[in-house]
Amino acid sequence: MKTSGAPPDGKSVEQLDRAVIFLGPPGAGKGTQAKELARSYRVPHLSTGDMLRENIAKGTPLGVQAQPIMARGELVPDSLVLKMVADRIERPDCSHGFVFDGFPRTVAQAQYLGQLLKAHGFRRPAVIHFVIDTSLVLRRITGRWMCKVGGEIYNIYERQPKVPGRCDNDGGELEQRPDDREEIVAPRLAAYEKMTAPLAAYYRRLGLLHTVDAAKSVDTVTQQVLAIVRGAH
Ligand code: AP5
Repeated sequence: MKTSGAPPDGKSVEQLDRAVIFLGPPGAGKGTQAKELARSYRVPHLSTGDMLRENIAKGTPLGVQAQPIMARGELVPDSLVLKMVADRIERPDCSHGFVFDGFPRTVAQAQYLGQLLKAHGFRRPAVIHFVIDTSLVLRRITGRWMCKVGGEIYNIYERQPKVPGRCDNDGGELEQRPDDREEIVAPRLAAYEKMTAPLAAYYRRLGLLHTVDAAKSVDTVTQQVLAIVRGAH
């Protein structure tokens, strides 16, 4: 790691200079931790779910194609997702690394990402697998509220805003995601098991996989993630 520039959590002066990939089921806490890590290292948080939701909100051609698929809890086809990601990491703010949350989600996406990172001259990514029991994930998903403005994530059980219904950061209105309805959570979990869970073995074989106990508190998971990122070579 380079040792100048961004100060993670105000204590160190490391730069990320790599991709960090968060892998784990819906509701495991990937978005919560990705925002934290990205803030600490001052690099972009690249959530393909957020990017797709932005496209839906703007009514772009990509958003129009993705909307019914996401509403059913299925994965958006690789052909749509890969171009969106490739375009995003071309942008200058990605030059010192970035945190992927929700990407890659298929072996084909992982293979493509490997080529993309090589082509951009990045060293090997750190892949962090969020391990958690399904019963806990269901509670987290159904309790989640998000800020309409900045996307900050709250939870009615575990992480309440100071003012009910309003974001602590920017006062934005909080809303629930349409795909967090109970009947959509089951297909999302099934898609994860079938298409995404095999990536843990894929990255383990490449020697890139690290594991966190995602059932712990937000602060404890943050410490686990930071220890991995600082120690990864
Ligand atoms: P996406 O937006 O990526 O959703 P996801 O992967 O299903 O993950 P979630 O956002 O539900 O959960 P999370 O792990 O980020 O948890 P969070 O931090 O919010 O994808 C949505 C859809 O987009 C997909 O279904 C698919 O259709 C499409 N898509 C996206 N990427 C794609 C791709 N690459 N290819 C194809 N299709 C794609 O936390 C959850 C809750 O728990 C929150 O309320 C939070 O406050 C709380 N919480 C978090 N951590 C803790 C903790 N440690 N203790 C207690 N509570 C906690």
